Amino acid sequence: VDCIAVLDFGSQTCQLISRRIREQGVYSLVLPGDEEIPSHLVPGLKGIIFSGSPFSVSEAGSPEPHDSVYAHGLPILGICYGMHRISKHFGGTVRTAERREYGRSRIRIKQTAPLLSGVEDGFLSWMSHGDSVEEMPAGFSCIAESEHGIPAVIRNRERDIYGIQFHPEVSHCEYGLHMLRNFAVDVCAAGQQWKMETYIEDASADIRKTAGKEAVLLLISGGVDSTVVAALLLHALPPEQVHLLYIDTGLMRRNETEEVTATLKRLGAKQLYIADAASRFLPALSGISDPEEKRRIIGDMFITVQEEEIRKRNIGDALLAQGTLYTDMIESGRGIGTRADVIKSHHNVRSPLVEEKRKKGRIIEPLSLLYKDEVRELGRLLGVHDSVVSRHPFPGPGLGVRILGEVTEEKCTVLQQADDIFIRELRTRRLYDEIWQAFCVLLPVRSVGVVGDSRGYTYVLALRAVLSSDGMTADVYPFLMNDLLEISSKITNRVAQIGRVVYDITSKPPGTIEWE
Ligand code: XMP
Repeated sequence: VDCIAVLDFGSQTCQLISRRIREQGVYSLVLPGDEEIPSHLVPGLKGIIFSGSPFSVSEAGSPEPHDSVYAHGLPILGICYGMHRISKHFGGTVRTAERREYGRSRIRIKQTAPLLSGVEDGFLSWMSHGDSVEEMPAGFSCIAESEHGIPAVIRNRERDIYGIQFHPEVSHCEYGLHMLRNFAVDVCAAGQQWKMETYIEDASADIRKTAGKEAVLLLISGGVDSTVVAALLLHALPPEQVHLLYIDTGLMRRNETEEVTATLKRLGAKQLYIADAASRFLPALSGISDPEEKRRIIGDMFITVQEEEIRKRNIGDALLAQGTLYTDMIESGRGIGTRADVIKSHHNVRSPLVEEKRKKGRIIEPLSLLYKDEVRELGRLLGVHDSVVSRHPFPGPGLGVRILGEVTEEKCTVLQQADDIFIRELRTRRLYDEIWQAFCVLLPVRSVGVVGDSRGYTYVLALRAVLSSDGMTADVYPFLMNDLLEISSKITNRVAQIGRVVYDITSKPPGTIEWE
């Protein structure tokens, strides 16, 4: 199929660019920025996008595309840093400003071009840069300018090479998708041949090829991602080959184990092992309140229990399948954009066992190029029930990172009860599907309240509800005050240990979605 390659120079948005192109029905993938394009991809290649970067082109060691990339003679679109690379390559100069320009900027179109076809003059773009093009490279014209007069779009007069200063891939950039579509479909003439059905068949073929007749083991968390991987494995392989292990850590949502079992059976699972390990996790967490320490303990205990179960089931040599998403990869600093910062150690990416399996090439991660909503679409197509597919994401360490400070069994029960009320209320109020992720957080503080006729010293609970499309950024869900008031009183009435409820009104950034 026709393909647009996104060359990765370390920007956090490489996969987002690629995914935006796929949204136009054009196949796209991310490749290392400084290497040659692999020869098997060249026949279908229709165009190349240079990503942004945390580097400045004037810095020593800043990544550069391989010379052969220009020699393909294909259309090129440079975004931000990518634009500066193009400018330097063709003999222009790039200026480093003292202060970064960050946020919205209106763009004045000076000259039309296929890239800007249908784009309205004065559209709002989204900028995040310190550098800008100073002297035009030979053969290029500036066809659009920012409100501060810096070149916003440049175009080579002979070849289809464009540079844009702003980020068309972010959702706040007006006409961003439109410009990416113009580039892929009109400038590159790439066919719109990509659909999720194709992905299912490609991913299934890959799984069959990697697995052969070997056993494949998948740890089930109960969330959308691992359930969809299970569905994909069961689609690709005979059910006898697919071993599903669910570890009940005691840090799960209420009734989770029963629901997970039912879902997997419906998907045709035959080798399903449910390990009740709450009595292992909770003591291990006793006295521990540091979030990364808790994550590490939970991750290690997962591996320990997993190894014991594997030994018991005699599937030690199995390949390990994982529901790792692209966002998990970059937030753990392991993305293709290898320079992306480490934000959190997601246990499903960073455990020694996983690393070891990875080194040996014994890992299958069929979702690692997808974003959450793409995974949902995939799940629906694979017949995963809508109530599971539309389920809000749930972190691997579970309630362990939603009970701030030390985790105890009592706090788990309190949080499970409160969370269950919150989620049920969102469902009955028909708000659940509008919200990307909602949950309760149990705070490590107590406050004074009136319980019955006496004063009590009870827990404080925070409600969190956010809107997002991929978890990378998030806005606070704007509840009607009445909903919040009613939900709050339901919780305090029914969960005696909670005497106060607060609503978290922090977006991401600067906050993260989870509190720990
Ligand atoms: P943050 O809190 O980083 O969350 O804004 C982004 C998304 O990732 C989920 N998350 C995790 N998932 N292991 C996981 O499997 C983790 O350690 C973890 N931490 C956060 C979070 O629920 C949100 O959907």
